[in-house]
Amino acid sequence: MDQGLRVETRLAVGGRGNHEPGQSLNVPIIPASNFRAAPPDVIGREYSRDDGTPGWEALEGLIGDLEGGPAVSFSSGMAAIAAVLELLPVGARVVAPRDSYTALRGLLADGAAAGDRWRSRIVDMTDAGDLLAAVADADLVWLETPSNPLLDVVGIAEVAQAAAAAGALVAVDNTFATPLLQNPLDLGADFVVHSATKSIGGHSDLLLGLVVCRRPEDRARLSRRREVAGATPGALEAFLALRGARTLAVRLRQEQETAGELARRLAAHPAVGRVRYPGLPDDPNHARAAAQMRGFGTVLSLELPDAGTADAVCAALRVISHATSLGGVESTIERRAKLPGQEHVPAGLLRLSVGCEHVEDLWTDLRIALETSAATAPAGSAVGSTVAAGSHP
Ligand SMILES: Cc1ncc(COP(=O)(O)O)c(C=O)c1O
Repeated sequence: MDQGLRVETRLAVGGRGNHEPGQSLNVPIIPASNFRAAPPDVIGREYSRDDGTPGWEALEGLIGDLEGGPAVSFSSGMAAIAAVLELLPVGARVVAPRDSYTALRGLLADGAAAGDRWRSRIVDMTDAGDLLAAVADADLVWLETPSNPLLDVVGIAEVAQAAAAAGALVAVDNTFATPLLQNPLDLGADFVVHSATKSIGGHSDLLLGLVVCRRPEDRARLSRRREVAGATPGALEAFLALRGARTLAVRLRQEQETAGELARRLAAHPAVGRVRYPGLPDDPNHARAAAQMRGFGTVLSLELPDAGTADAVCAALRVISHATSLGGVESTIERRAKLPGQEHVPAGLLRLSVGCEHVEDLWTDLRIALETSAATAPAGSAVGSTVAAGSHP
Protein backbone atom coordinates (compact mmCIF):
# COMPACT_ATOMS: atom_id res chain seq x y z
CA MET A 1 0.00 0.00 0.00
CA ASP A 2 1.03 3.61 -0.51
CA GLN A 3 3.23 4.28 2.54
CA GLY A 4 2.29 7.97 2.31
CA LEU A 5 -1.23 7.19 3.47
CA ARG A 6 -2.04 7.69 7.14
CA VAL A 7 -2.99 4.73 9.30
CA GLU A 8 -6.68 5.64 9.48
CA THR A 9 -6.78 5.55 5.69
CA ARG A 10 -4.74 2.37 5.44
CA LEU A 11 -7.12 0.65 7.86
CA ALA A 12 -10.06 1.71 5.69
CA VAL A 13 -8.66 0.92 2.26
CA GLY A 14 -6.23 -1.96 2.93
CA GLY A 15 -7.10 -5.64 2.74
CA ARG A 16 -9.59 -5.14 -0.08
CA GLY A 17 -9.88 -7.84 -2.66
CA ASN A 18 -10.59 -7.66 -6.32
CA HIS A 19 -10.93 -4.09 -7.60
CA GLU A 20 -12.80 -5.11 -10.76
CA PRO A 21 -16.24 -3.52 -11.33
CA GLY A 22 -19.03 -5.55 -9.80
CA GLN A 23 -16.84 -7.21 -7.15
CA SER A 24 -17.68 -6.80 -3.47
CA LEU A 25 -15.74 -4.14 -1.57
CA ASN A 26 -14.96 -6.66 1.16
CA VAL A 27 -13.26 -9.98 0.62
CA PRO A 28 -16.21 -12.24 1.44
CA ILE A 29 -16.20 -14.98 4.05
CA ILE A 30 -14.57 -17.92 2.30
CA PRO A 31 -15.46 -21.19 4.01
CA ALA A 32 -13.19 -23.28 1.82
CA SER A 33 -10.76 -26.05 2.56
CA ASN A 34 -10.50 -27.09 -1.05
CA PHE A 35 -9.84 -25.20 -4.31
CA ARG A 36 -9.94 -26.40 -7.91
CA ALA A 37 -6.57 -27.72 -8.96
CA ALA A 38 -4.34 -25.70 -11.26
CA PRO A 39 -2.87 -27.25 -14.43
CA PRO A 40 0.18 -29.44 -13.68
CA ASP A 41 2.71 -26.76 -14.64
CA VAL A 42 1.10 -23.97 -12.54
CA ILE A 43 1.42 -23.51 -8.78
CA GLY A 44 -2.06 -22.67 -7.54
CA ARG A 45 -4.05 -22.53 -4.34
CA GLU A 46 -5.31 -26.03 -3.62
CA TYR A 47 -5.88 -26.54 0.10
CA SER A 48 -6.36 -23.75 2.61
CA ARG A 49 -4.16 -25.16 5.39
CA ASP A 50 -1.27 -25.32 2.93
CA ASP A 51 -1.91 -22.33 0.71
CA GLY A 52 -4.04 -19.88 2.74
CA THR A 53 -7.26 -18.24 1.60
CA PRO A 54 -7.98 -14.79 0.14
CA GLY A 55 -9.72 -13.96 3.44
CA TRP A 56 -6.64 -14.71 5.55
CA GLU A 57 -4.43 -12.92 3.07
CA ALA A 58 -6.53 -9.74 3.20
CA LEU A 59 -6.07 -9.55 6.98
CA GLU A 60 -2.38 -10.49 6.77
CA GLY A 61 -1.84 -7.85 4.13
CA LEU A 62 -3.38 -5.12 6.27
CA ILE A 63 -1.60 -5.97 9.55
CA GLY A 64 1.67 -6.68 7.75
CA ASP A 65 1.44 -3.29 6.07
CA LEU A 66 0.93 -1.55 9.42
CA GLU A 67 3.76 -3.42 11.15
CA GLY A 68 6.17 -3.25 8.20
CA GLY A 69 6.71 -6.92 7.30
CA PRO A 70 5.06 -10.04 5.93
CA ALA A 71 2.37 -11.52 8.23
CA VAL A 72 0.97 -14.99 8.85
CA SER A 73 -2.36 -15.52 10.63
CA PHE A 74 -3.13 -18.30 13.10
CA SER A 75 -6.10 -19.67 15.00
CA SER A 76 -5.31 -17.62 18.16
CA GLY A 77 -2.69 -15.41 19.72
CA MET A 78 -1.27 -18.45 21.50
CA ALA A 79 -1.02 -20.37 18.23
CA ALA A 80 0.94 -17.42 16.82
CA ILE A 81 3.25 -17.40 19.87
CA ALA A 82 3.75 -21.16 19.67
CA ALA A 83 4.60 -20.91 15.96
CA VAL A 84 7.44 -18.47 16.69
CA LEU A 85 8.81 -20.64 19.50
CA GLU A 86 8.61 -23.72 17.27
CA LEU A 87 11.03 -22.08 14.84
CA LEU A 88 13.75 -22.49 17.47
CA PRO A 89 15.96 -25.56 17.70
CA VAL A 90 15.47 -27.98 20.60
CA GLY A 91 17.16 -26.70 23.75
CA ALA A 92 17.14 -23.06 22.59
CA ARG A 93 17.56 -20.54 25.40
CA VAL A 94 14.54 -18.26 25.70
CA VAL A 95 14.39 -15.22 27.94
CA ALA A 96 10.83 -14.22 28.79
CA PRO A 97 9.25 -11.62 31.08
CA ARG A 98 7.92 -12.49 34.52
CA ASP A 99 5.03 -10.14 33.83
CA SER A 100 3.57 -11.47 30.60
CA TYR A 101 0.55 -13.34 29.37
CA THR A 102 0.36 -16.46 31.54
CA ALA A 103 0.02 -19.02 28.77
CA LEU A 104 3.36 -17.93 27.24
CA ARG A 105 5.10 -18.90 30.47
CA GLY A 106 2.92 -22.03 30.65
CA LEU A 107 3.99 -23.06 27.17
CA LEU A 108 7.67 -22.52 27.99
CA ALA A 109 7.32 -24.46 31.26
CA ASP A 110 5.58 -27.37 29.50
CA GLY A 111 8.35 -27.40 26.89
CA ALA A 112 11.01 -27.50 29.60
CA ALA A 113 9.19 -30.29 31.44
CA ALA A 114 8.92 -32.33 28.24
CA GLY A 115 12.73 -32.50 28.01
CA ASP A 116 14.16 -29.06 27.45
CA ARG A 117 12.25 -28.29 24.26
CA TRP A 118 13.19 -24.76 25.28
CA ARG A 119 15.38 -23.70 28.19
CA SER A 120 13.66 -20.63 29.52
CA ARG A 121 14.76 -17.97 31.91
CA ILE A 122 12.01 -15.77 33.35
CA VAL A 123 13.27 -12.31 34.25
CA ASP A 124 11.88 -9.18 35.81
CA MET A 125 12.11 -6.87 32.80
CA THR A 126 11.99 -3.80 34.98
CA ASP A 127 15.45 -4.75 36.27
CA ALA A 128 17.63 -3.55 33.38
CA GLY A 129 20.76 -5.22 34.75
CA ASP A 130 19.09 -8.63 35.04
CA LEU A 131 17.50 -8.26 31.64
CA LEU A 132 20.69 -7.35 29.78
CA ALA A 133 22.65 -10.12 31.55
CA ALA A 134 20.00 -12.64 30.49
CA VAL A 135 19.97 -11.34 26.90
CA ALA A 136 23.72 -11.95 26.60
CA ASP A 137 23.04 -15.66 27.08
CA ALA A 138 19.90 -16.10 24.94
CA ASP A 139 18.84 -17.45 21.58
CA LEU A 140 15.50 -15.63 21.69
CA VAL A 141 14.36 -12.73 23.84
CA TRP A 142 10.60 -12.48 24.25
CA LEU A 143 9.21 -9.06 25.14
CA GLU A 144 5.69 -8.04 26.01
CA THR A 145 5.39 -4.29 26.27
CA PRO A 146 3.24 -2.89 27.78
CA SER A 147 2.91 -6.08 29.80
CA ASN A 148 -0.17 -7.90 31.00
CA PRO A 149 -1.26 -6.96 33.68
CA LEU A 150 1.37 -4.71 35.31
CA LEU A 151 1.79 -2.41 32.28
CA ASP A 152 5.59 -2.54 32.43
CA VAL A 153 7.27 -0.94 29.44
CA VAL A 154 10.60 -2.23 28.09
CA GLY A 155 12.88 -0.35 25.69
CA ILE A 156 12.65 -2.52 22.57
CA ALA A 157 15.52 -0.83 20.69
CA GLU A 158 17.90 -1.19 23.62
CA VAL A 159 17.08 -4.90 24.06
CA ALA A 160 17.25 -5.51 20.31
CA GLN A 161 20.71 -3.94 20.19
CA ALA A 162 21.95 -6.12 23.05
CA ALA A 163 20.31 -9.17 21.47
CA ALA A 164 21.94 -8.49 18.10
CA ALA A 165 25.33 -8.27 19.80
CA ALA A 166 24.64 -11.63 21.47
CA GLY A 167 23.32 -13.23 18.26
CA ALA A 168 19.83 -13.58 19.74
CA LEU A 169 16.47 -13.02 18.06
CA VAL A 170 13.83 -10.72 19.52
CA ALA A 171 10.07 -11.30 19.48
CA VAL A 172 7.62 -8.71 20.79
CA ASP A 173 4.05 -9.35 21.84
CA ASN A 174 2.49 -6.11 20.63
CA THR A 175 -1.07 -6.96 21.64
CA PHE A 176 -1.46 -4.11 24.15
CA ALA A 177 0.12 -1.46 21.94
CA THR A 178 -1.49 -2.57 18.64
CA PRO A 179 0.29 -1.74 15.37
CA LEU A 180 -0.89 1.86 15.79
CA LEU A 181 1.06 2.70 18.93
CA GLN A 182 4.38 0.99 18.30
CA ASN A 183 6.09 -0.99 15.54
CA PRO A 184 8.70 -3.32 17.03
CA LEU A 185 10.25 -4.29 13.67
CA ASP A 186 11.28 -0.64 13.23
CA LEU A 187 12.99 -0.85 16.62
CA GLY A 188 15.05 -3.91 15.71
CA ALA A 189 12.76 -6.83 16.62
CA ASP A 190 12.64 -9.92 14.39
CA PHE A 191 9.05 -10.97 15.11
CA VAL A 192 5.90 -9.16 16.23
CA VAL A 193 3.00 -11.14 17.61
CA HIS A 194 -0.62 -10.04 18.02
CA SER A 195 -3.54 -11.59 19.73
CA ALA A 196 -6.08 -10.13 17.29
CA THR A 197 -8.64 -11.53 19.70
CA LYS A 198 -8.11 -8.26 21.57
CA SER A 199 -8.00 -4.74 20.10
CA ILE A 200 -7.56 -5.64 16.43
CA GLY A 201 -10.80 -7.64 16.42
CA GLY A 202 -12.15 -5.31 19.07
CA HIS A 203 -15.54 -6.90 19.73
CA SER A 204 -14.86 -9.96 21.92
CA ASP A 205 -16.33 -12.22 19.25
CA LEU A 206 -13.35 -14.12 17.85
CA LEU A 207 -9.99 -15.77 18.51
CA LEU A 208 -7.17 -15.07 16.05
CA GLY A 209 -3.44 -14.40 16.12
CA LEU A 210 -0.83 -13.00 13.77
CA VAL A 211 2.94 -13.02 13.48
CA VAL A 212 4.68 -10.33 11.45
CA CYS A 213 8.34 -10.94 10.63
CA ARG A 214 11.30 -8.96 9.42
CA ARG A 215 12.66 -11.52 6.94
CA PRO A 216 10.57 -12.95 4.08
CA GLU A 217 12.15 -16.39 4.67
CA ASP A 218 10.64 -16.38 8.15
CA ARG A 219 7.22 -15.90 6.59
CA ALA A 220 7.76 -19.13 4.70
CA ARG A 221 8.90 -20.90 7.88
CA LEU A 222 5.84 -19.65 9.77
CA SER A 223 3.49 -20.72 6.96
CA ARG A 224 5.14 -24.12 7.13
CA ARG A 225 4.43 -24.24 10.89
CA ARG A 226 0.79 -23.43 10.19
CA GLU A 227 0.66 -26.06 7.47
CA VAL A 228 2.15 -28.89 9.54
CA ALA A 229 0.72 -27.99 12.96
CA GLY A 230 -2.62 -26.94 11.52
CA ALA A 231 -3.46 -23.90 13.70
CA THR A 232 -5.38 -22.14 10.93
CA PRO A 233 -7.69 -19.15 11.43
CA GLY A 234 -11.41 -19.70 10.92
CA ALA A 235 -13.01 -18.16 7.85
CA LEU A 236 -15.54 -16.17 9.90
CA GLU A 237 -12.87 -15.12 12.40
CA ALA A 238 -10.59 -13.75 9.68
CA PHE A 239 -13.49 -11.79 8.20
CA LEU A 240 -14.50 -10.38 11.60
CA ALA A 241 -10.92 -9.52 12.57
CA LEU A 242 -10.50 -7.51 9.37
CA ARG A 243 -13.85 -5.82 9.87
CA GLY A 244 -12.90 -4.96 13.45
CA ALA A 245 -9.53 -3.61 12.33
CA ARG A 246 -11.25 -1.08 10.06
CA THR A 247 -12.29 0.91 13.15
CA LEU A 248 -9.16 0.32 15.22
CA ALA A 249 -7.92 3.90 14.96
CA VAL A 250 -11.18 5.51 16.05
CA ARG A 251 -11.76 3.00 18.84
CA LEU A 252 -8.22 3.41 20.08
CA ARG A 253 -8.41 7.19 20.08
CA GLN A 254 -11.61 7.21 22.11
CA GLU A 255 -10.57 4.41 24.47
CA GLN A 256 -7.16 5.90 25.12
CA GLU A 257 -8.52 9.29 25.98
CA THR A 258 -10.98 7.68 28.41
CA ALA A 259 -8.26 5.42 29.90
CA GLY A 260 -6.07 8.46 30.59
CA GLU A 261 -8.92 10.33 32.25
CA LEU A 262 -9.96 7.35 34.38
CA ALA A 263 -6.34 6.72 35.38
CA ARG A 264 -6.03 10.31 36.60
CA ARG A 265 -9.31 10.19 38.53
CA LEU A 266 -8.60 6.76 40.03
CA ALA A 267 -5.11 7.86 41.12
CA ALA A 268 -6.73 10.72 43.06
CA HIS A 269 -9.40 8.51 44.67
CA PRO A 270 -8.81 7.79 48.36
CA ALA A 271 -9.93 4.13 48.09
CA VAL A 272 -7.39 3.35 45.36
CA GLY A 273 -3.70 2.61 45.91
CA ARG A 274 -1.31 2.62 43.00
CA VAL A 275 -2.69 3.10 39.49
CA ARG A 276 -0.53 1.58 36.77
CA TYR A 277 -0.87 3.36 33.45
CA PRO A 278 2.15 4.48 31.40
CA GLY A 279 0.33 7.69 30.50
CA LEU A 280 0.44 8.98 34.10
CA PRO A 281 3.40 11.36 34.37
CA ASP A 282 4.52 9.83 37.67
CA ASP A 283 4.29 6.23 36.44
CA PRO A 284 7.80 4.69 36.44
CA ASN A 285 7.24 3.63 32.81
CA HIS A 286 6.09 7.02 31.59
CA ALA A 287 9.32 8.35 30.08
CA ARG A 288 10.11 5.08 28.30
CA ALA A 289 6.57 4.79 26.97
CA ALA A 290 6.53 8.41 25.81
CA ALA A 291 9.76 7.83 23.89
CA GLN A 292 8.74 4.52 22.35
CA MET A 293 4.99 4.67 21.83
CA ARG A 294 2.58 6.94 19.96
CA GLY A 295 0.03 6.68 22.77
CA PHE A 296 -0.32 4.94 26.12
CA GLY A 297 -2.94 2.33 25.36
CA THR A 298 -6.35 1.34 26.58
CA VAL A 299 -5.55 -0.85 29.59
CA LEU A 300 -4.76 0.26 33.13
CA SER A 301 -4.48 -1.52 36.47
CA LEU A 302 -5.56 -0.22 39.85
CA GLU A 303 -4.59 -1.58 43.22
CA LEU A 304 -7.09 -2.02 46.03
CA PRO A 305 -6.11 -2.97 49.58
CA ASP A 306 -6.91 -6.66 49.30
CA ALA A 307 -8.56 -9.40 47.25
CA GLY A 308 -11.91 -9.08 49.03
CA THR A 309 -12.26 -5.38 48.28
CA ALA A 310 -11.25 -5.93 44.67
CA ASP A 311 -13.74 -8.80 44.25
CA ALA A 312 -16.47 -6.64 45.82
CA VAL A 313 -15.73 -3.84 43.33
CA CYS A 314 -16.03 -6.28 40.41
CA ALA A 315 -19.36 -7.54 41.74
CA ALA A 316 -20.72 -4.01 42.27
CA LEU A 317 -20.02 -2.67 38.76
CA ARG A 318 -23.03 -2.30 36.48
CA VAL A 319 -21.64 -0.80 33.25
CA ILE A 320 -18.17 -2.36 33.24
CA SER A 321 -18.34 -6.12 32.65
CA HIS A 322 -16.67 -8.38 35.18
CA ALA A 323 -14.96 -10.58 32.62
CA THR A 324 -11.57 -11.72 31.46
CA SER A 325 -9.96 -10.62 28.17
CA LEU A 326 -9.53 -7.09 26.94
CA GLY A 327 -9.52 -4.83 23.91
CA GLY A 328 -13.28 -4.95 23.23
CA VAL A 329 -15.62 -2.01 22.68
CA GLU A 330 -17.08 -2.90 26.10
CA SER A 331 -14.99 -2.22 29.21
CA THR A 332 -13.94 -5.30 31.18
CA ILE A 333 -12.37 -5.71 34.59
CA GLU A 334 -10.71 -8.63 36.33
CA ARG A 335 -8.73 -9.37 39.49
CA ARG A 336 -5.74 -11.04 37.95
CA ALA A 337 -4.19 -12.57 41.07
CA LYS A 338 -7.10 -15.00 41.35
CA LEU A 339 -5.57 -16.87 38.40
CA PRO A 340 -2.65 -19.31 38.50
CA GLY A 341 0.66 -17.95 37.20
CA GLN A 342 0.00 -14.49 38.65
CA GLU A 343 1.85 -14.92 41.95
CA HIS A 344 3.86 -11.74 41.30
CA VAL A 345 0.68 -9.67 40.94
CA PRO A 346 -0.71 -7.83 44.00
CA ALA A 347 -3.79 -9.65 45.38
CA GLY A 348 -6.02 -6.58 45.08
CA LEU A 349 -4.94 -5.53 41.57
CA LEU A 350 -7.73 -5.05 39.03
CA ARG A 351 -6.93 -4.88 35.33
CA LEU A 352 -9.33 -2.57 33.52
CA SER A 353 -9.67 -2.67 29.75
CA VAL A 354 -11.33 0.57 28.71
CA GLY A 355 -13.94 0.41 25.98
CA CYS A 356 -15.97 2.94 24.02
CA GLU A 357 -18.57 3.84 26.66
CA HIS A 358 -18.89 7.48 27.75
CA VAL A 359 -16.19 8.40 30.24
CA GLU A 360 -18.68 9.83 32.74
CA ASP A 361 -20.75 6.62 32.79
CA LEU A 362 -17.61 4.58 33.41
CA TRP A 363 -16.47 6.94 36.13
CA THR A 364 -19.86 6.91 37.90
CA ASP A 365 -19.84 3.10 37.77
CA LEU A 366 -16.33 2.91 39.24
CA ARG A 367 -16.93 5.59 41.86
CA ILE A 368 -20.12 3.96 43.18
CA ALA A 369 -18.53 0.48 43.18
CA LEU A 370 -15.46 1.79 45.04
CA GLU A 371 -17.61 3.55 47.63
CA THR A 372 -19.98 0.64 48.28
CA SER A 373 -17.21 -1.98 48.28
CA ALA A 374 -14.97 -0.13 50.73
CA ALA A 375 -17.91 -0.44 53.16
CA THR A 376 -18.84 -4.07 52.40
CA ALA A 377 -15.57 -5.95 51.69
CA PRO A 378 -14.95 -8.78 54.17
CA ALA A 379 -12.06 -7.86 56.45
CA GLY A 380 -8.68 -9.54 55.93
CA SER A 381 -9.48 -11.21 52.62
CA ALA A 382 -6.14 -12.11 51.15
CA VAL A 383 -4.37 -13.51 48.12
CA GLY A 384 -5.72 -16.74 46.84
CA SER A 385 -6.17 -18.60 43.65
CA THR A 386 -9.89 -19.25 43.47
CA VAL A 387 -10.00 -20.40 39.88
CA ALA A 388 -9.05 -23.79 38.49
CA ALA A 389 -5.80 -24.06 36.55
CA GLY A 390 -5.87 -22.26 33.22
CA SER A 391 -4.68 -19.04 31.73
CA HIS A 392 -7.50 -16.63 31.20
CA PRO A 393 -6.58 -13.79 28.89
C1 LIG B 1 -0.71 -9.99 25.75
C2 LIG B 1 -1.37 -11.24 25.26
N1 LIG B 1 -0.75 -12.00 24.37
C3 LIG B 1 -1.31 -13.14 23.91
C4 LIG B 1 -2.53 -13.57 24.35
C5 LIG B 1 -3.10 -14.85 23.83
O1 LIG B 1 -4.07 -14.58 22.87
P1 LIG B 1 -5.26 -15.58 22.49
O2 LIG B 1 -6.19 -15.62 23.63
O3 LIG B 1 -5.81 -14.97 21.23
O4 LIG B 1 -4.65 -16.92 22.24
C6 LIG B 1 -3.21 -12.80 25.28
C7 LIG B 1 -4.52 -13.24 25.78
O5 LIG B 1 -5.06 -12.62 26.67
C8 LIG B 1 -2.62 -11.61 25.76
O6 LIG B 1 -3.23 -10.84 26.67
